[in-house]
Amino acid sequence: MKIAILGYGTVGSAVVETLLKNQDLIKARCNEEIIPVIALARSLKPNALIPIVNDIDEVLEREDIDVFVELMGGIDLPFEIISKILKRKKSVVTANKALLAYHRCELEKLAQDTAFGYEASVAGGIPIIKILKEGLSANNIVSIKGILNGTSNYILSKMTEDSAKFQEVLKKAQDLGYAEADPTFDIEGFDAAHKLLILANIAYGLRVKPEDILIEGVSKVSDEDIYFAKEFEYTIKHLGIAKIKDEKIELRVHPVMLNKDKMLAKVDGVMNAISVDGDVLGESLYYGPGAGGKATASAVIADLIDIARKEKNSAIFGYLNDTSYELLNKDEIYTRYYLRLKVLDKIGVLSKITHLMSEHQISIDTFLQKPKKEKQDYSTLFFITHQTYEKNIQILTQRLREQEFVKDDVFMMRIED
Ligand code: NDP
Ligand code: HSE
Repeated sequence: MKIAILGYGTVGSAVVETLLKNQDLIKARCNEEIIPVIALARSLKPNALIPIVNDIDEVLEREDIDVFVELMGGIDLPFEIISKILKRKKSVVTANKALLAYHRCELEKLAQDTAFGYEASVAGGIPIIKILKEGLSANNIVSIKGILNGTSNYILSKMTEDSAKFQEVLKKAQDLGYAEADPTFDIEGFDAAHKLLILANIAYGLRVKPEDILIEGVSKVSDEDIYFAKEFEYTIKHLGIAKIKDEKIELRVHPVMLNKDKMLAKVDGVMNAISVDGDVLGESLYYGPGAGGKATASAVIADLIDIARKEKNSAIFGYLNDTSYELLNKDEIYTRYYLRLKVLDKIGVLSKITHLMSEHQISIDTFLQKPKKEKQDYSTLFFITHQTYEKNIQILTQRLREQEFVKDDVFMMRIED
């Protein structure tokens, strides 16, 4: 089976390297050689292991290619290219979650008579797509909760363990090949949202766009939040959450305070983990490297092996289910909240804050005032609330921002119990 690699970066080069290194084992497992014959990149690479070209037509025109592996990134261009390839009834494998979050269903439809694999698009090397489509196919999925972005988890872990500075750790994650070409996708939560939408689409048939769901990233998490979390036995993690609530689907991606004894709280570094609650099996947890060339290559090649095994007509590929589910309105999210705000240290400020909270049906569970340093005229206050609706907390934070005694921004994080 001859393959073309569209994109010879972190993942593309790791796929080629692994196919060549493990070629005998791969052949033994699928009874066919999988040979990378050509790759596409913008810049030519003298040390590449296979010929590289920078003209897409040179690759697409080759009649001898059986499978095209898209590892370029982006949305519009890969959509155009993959659509063309699938219409020619050639198989495609991709790791491109941004593309899939917008166009998976259209592409699955085009792939009716051929294979379209995307195991590598969610959680790097963890075979979570296969788990949902196959291993858990007898279950109604009650909830999916996952650490889905390796870069964010790496940053939060290093900030917690080593008191490292956000920008320095982000740079390290980029050097290690974990981050997206534009790291905003990682630190503002979009990448995790793309992955959550793929999982929610498989589990619930829900077809919504990233714009429709609540997305927040780790960029605003500060040393002070880490300090509070440690004091009160929490760990801060970035989670994607999909769950059935009142016959609707709640979908959200944001940092959370998680009790430090929870299993997801112990997942550190670039590791990802996904907890799936099924009505038959109960809770099961999947853990492994979530980003980086090798981890992703492992999943890309698993799809290639399935294609070589001619599994293209099985349940692995081609998976579209329709749904009667609707998305839960963001305002109806009901949980506990953490608030951090800097205020002038003067009489009456605390009572004004608690008054605003009670006006919006918000009740305090925990309160901490961080002792201020000498010569500072403001103090940092931390609150944890009892459960309330998202609508209430959004109005409260807006009202707090308007107060003359509040300095800087008011930061809010949800608690995941
Ligand atoms: P890189 O930026 O390292 O590599 C992208 C490759 O595609 C480069 O070789 C680049 O060329 C080439 N390329 C990009 N645009 C074009 C274009 N218009 N024409 C020709 N070549 C192009 O990205 P990654 O390898 O990290 O990621 C690739 C895909 O895999 C993305 O969709 C990403 O989201 C996904 N992914 C990445 C993971 C990771 O851990 N890195 C994990 C899971 C999925 P050049 O080298 O000349 O710049
Ligand atoms: N940038 C992504 C991450 C790559 O950090 O998780 C894996 O999808």
